[in-house]
Amino acid sequence: MSGSAPQRSVHIATFGCQMNAYDSQRISGLLAGLGYVEVDQPQGADLIVLNTCSVRERAEQKVYSYVGALKRLKEARPGMLIGVGGCVAQQEGDRLLKQIPHLDFVFGTSALERLPELVAEAQQGRRRALTETAPAALALAPAARPGLKALVTVMRGCDNFCAYCVVPYVRGREQSRPAAELLAEAESLAAGGVREITLLGQNVNSYQDPEGALDFAGLLRRLARVEGLWRLRFTTSHPKDLSPALIETLASEPKVMEQLHLPAQAGSDRVLKAMGRGYTRRQYLELVRRLREAAPGVALGGDVIVGFPGESEEDFLETLSLLSEVRYDFLYSFKYSDRPFTRAARMAGKLAGSVKAERLSRLQALQRDISLALHRGLEGQTAEVLVEGPDKKGRGLMGGRCRVGRMVNFPGGPELVGRLVKVRIEQGRENSLLGSLAPALGSEAS
Ligand code: 5AD
Ligand code: SF4
Repeated sequence: MSGSAPQRSVHIATFGCQMNAYDSQRISGLLAGLGYVEVDQPQGADLIVLNTCSVRERAEQKVYSYVGALKRLKEARPGMLIGVGGCVAQQEGDRLLKQIPHLDFVFGTSALERLPELVAEAQQGRRRALTETAPAALALAPAARPGLKALVTVMRGCDNFCAYCVVPYVRGREQSRPAAELLAEAESLAAGGVREITLLGQNVNSYQDPEGALDFAGLLRRLARVEGLWRLRFTTSHPKDLSPALIETLASEPKVMEQLHLPAQAGSDRVLKAMGRGYTRRQYLELVRRLREAAPGVALGGDVIVGFPGESEEDFLETLSLLSEVRYDFLYSFKYSDRPFTRAARMAGKLAGSVKAERLSRLQALQRDISLALHRGLEGQTAEVLVEGPDKKGRGLMGGRCRVGRMVNFPGGPELVGRLVKVRIEQGRENSLLGSLAPALGSEAS
């Protein structure tokens, strides 16, 4: 940017998954190249970019109401530009420009790299939507904002076409980034002070180096050798592609955290089949058993959908019993919603909203009990915590995540930020743990 050019500001509103969080970093980096400085609030920004999610109906509605609310802001500030990117942009394209007159440009997930072009055109008053299907360039370095933790996308897209899911349509087919490039990125992040990297992919465990023989387990082992990097996590893993080599790596590589997000989606074979998930309840439970055998402290995360078309009360009870059997450490649960292009949207047997809501609240009540019991069971154990900073609730505590990803808060000073400390767990709560610094090693809660 030339010294005389006025500095402009951009607010980036991110919805949805970590993949979008990563893309927002890239958006920020691209716009920084145009002289835009990122700001936390939409008020007063010269440009507002929404990075959107369409995975569930509610996520999509949020986007429309957010853009709607920006109309006033734009009226008060006529030169302001508004752009929509991400999955809703990919799905709706030009329609968004037609429906929303105060929108200036639209860029789908596959057109992210062309954002500077769109912004320049919008500044000239040209409204455009780009959603070409050319594979998204994956190689862009993330924005230069390294903190303690960073996200790195290793693969994108999905070939699975689960019956309910819009992802393959808005993110395209699976595409892995070259391992050499990922190693270089991890090395530069670690050199910049990053200590923990979370590897992202819609099916991260089907990663395959396009230029070599490394599979995902191999990639993890290579990344674990990067100097200065302490912790590796990854998400999301598909149960049908969980290899023995990955289980072994998770169990034996100290830098790979003992945490696995392994969505089951449902507990009944009938529903799993209709969803097209590629495994049975028994096979899923067998995987969980093998994982826990290899890595006893492993924390398991899951996603479940209630109210899939045709789900009977018996099917739903099987999902509840799956939760009781697995005892997930982290669970994300959703009411089924119809998504464009998907097979499930055309299926018979749709359930009433009230039935889905009632099932979801029963399921969440069960999970709350499980989480609380699991967390209480950790009291008295010691956890290794990477200290991130003061706790969000302003209780004067420090906070950080333990190896398996739980938030742990404890009294301590800012000098601890960026360090690995041992914390004795004093109290297990539903969503976090309270503890105190432990000078000596105790039994590991991880
Ligand atoms: N309805 C409800 N939940 C869905 N998910 C994906 N598609 C749908 C849908 N149509 C959930 C799945 C997935 C998570 C990211 O969102 O559980 O794992
Ligand atoms: Fe969607 Fe299934 Fe692909 Fe996951 S595996 S992104 S749920 S289609």
